[in-house]
Amino acid sequence: MSFAADPAAPEPVRGAAGRPVGINEVAARAGVSPATVSNVLNRPERVAGDTRRRVEEAIAELDYVRNSSGSNLRSGRSDSIGLVVHDVTNPFFTEVARGVQDAAAGEGRAVVLLNSDEQASWQSRSLRLLAEQRAAGAVVMPVDDDMSDLLWLRGRGTPWVVLDRGDVGADLGCSVTVDNHAGGLAAGRHLIGLGHERVTFVSGPLGIEQCARRLDGLRAACEESGLAPERAIRVVETPQLNPRSGEQAVEEVLAGGPRRRPQAAFCANDQLALGLLKSLGARGLRVPDDLSVVGYDDVDVAGLVHPGLTTVAQPKYELGRAAMRLLHSELSDADHVHQRLRFEPELVVRGSTAPATVATPEHHG
Ligand code: RIB
Repeated sequence: MSFAADPAAPEPVRGAAGRPVGINEVAARAGVSPATVSNVLNRPERVAGDTRRRVEEAIAELDYVRNSSGSNLRSGRSDSIGLVVHDVTNPFFTEVARGVQDAAAGEGRAVVLLNSDEQASWQSRSLRLLAEQRAAGAVVMPVDDDMSDLLWLRGRGTPWVVLDRGDVGADLGCSVTVDNHAGGLAAGRHLIGLGHERVTFVSGPLGIEQCARRLDGLRAACEESGLAPERAIRVVETPQLNPRSGEQAVEEVLAGGPRRRPQAAFCANDQLALGLLKSLGARGLRVPDDLSVVGYDDVDVAGLVHPGLTTVAQPKYELGRAAMRLLHSELSDADHVHQRLRFEPELVVRGSTAPATVATPEHHG
């Protein structure tokens, strides 16, 4: 496959000595000073309308693109925003990233996306890279509750907002989270309301705050319904919150013999649930007839599979947008006060859950 330049694409306009067009060429073309061009770019409200239009026409004719590295050198800070997520392959984070991106673009900022893979070492490396790049700020999904490298970053002049995890004290910085306990409670109430009294919670590593809080919510649903959590819930812990882990967990999820086979599985996120659905189908098990399945996140594909995945929706895009807006407030408002925003999840019922049947599921193999 050739990546040769498209011959039809216009050649970039070159200034003196073949260099890209600079502010001086624009000023000469518009008949103004370079300072006036700079004002049009940075403080357009200070430039009279007809002058501003002449400069804008010259910029368009010469295809001038500003070089922000110069202003960054002077200010010692770039315009870019770092976004550190756990797993870029998880569509939850891509929707969050879109919210961050759209809010950042509205402020003329670019977003640098970094992956921590749930590893503290990778998070530290990502934050150090942002410090080296003199990022203006960062939106970070912490891998755990150790705030030391976030405090280090702030100490080097890069403010941040933590997202989705790490309900930090408002004295340290802003945070945007979702009530994971409420999400687990809603999923549990739904399953128990369908008559399910044996539920397997398919978790990622229980050290991940979201997984632990969703399990707590499921336990609370059992308690309020008079079910003993230790009897009603089995926990299957997987190494990662991805489809492969859900797929590989199927034998453990179904284990327990005829008297303990689950009637339902509540998965800590949609990725696990989608992998589990695949393995259940491969074993001839029907969802929801043989096993009801609930996920968490409501990523796009949850509504596209058949049956549709009942899940707990998180306001993904809004999470990212809110985090970026809080960061912009800290970057631009001298009177900024840190905030802790908490969003509520919402149960979305689809075809993967149904009332409990009396008969023990067949084909469990
Ligand atoms: O970090 C993985 C999970 O935590 C995501 O799927 C989402 O649920 C987030 O809260």
